[in-house]
Amino acid sequence: MVTGPVNISSEKLAQGKTIFENSCGRCHDLPEPTKHTSVQWVGIMNAMAPKAKLNDEQHQMVYDYIVSVKKQ
Ligand code: HEC
Repeated sequence: MVTGPVNISSEKLAQGKTIFENSCGRCHDLPEPTKHTSVQWVGIMNAMAPKAKLNDEQHQMVYDYIVSVKKQ
């Protein structure tokens, strides 16, 4: 099953989804990935990753997950 770009493992995307669901709905409703472009998400994630206390790897996994949702 193809769940995203070939260089991203489905395991990492699943982890990104879990982090997204656990960390990104704490201060506001869980955002809708399709509401912003992948370029806008770069800026949003740069602002939100520190708020959610994500490290660089978690930040990347959440971003990859968000972009993968948009492609489905
Ligand atoms: C500590 C609280 C907090 C956490 C955790 C948090 N956010 Fe936010 N978020 C905010 C606040 C406050 C705003 C509105 C003010 C602002 O834009 O800074 C916001 C705004 C947003 C917006 C709207 C931006 C826009 O331009 O319309 C999006 C999308 C978003 N957050 C996504 C996320 C994602 C994704 C995560 C997880 C990585 C996350 N947030 C985690 C506090 C948080």
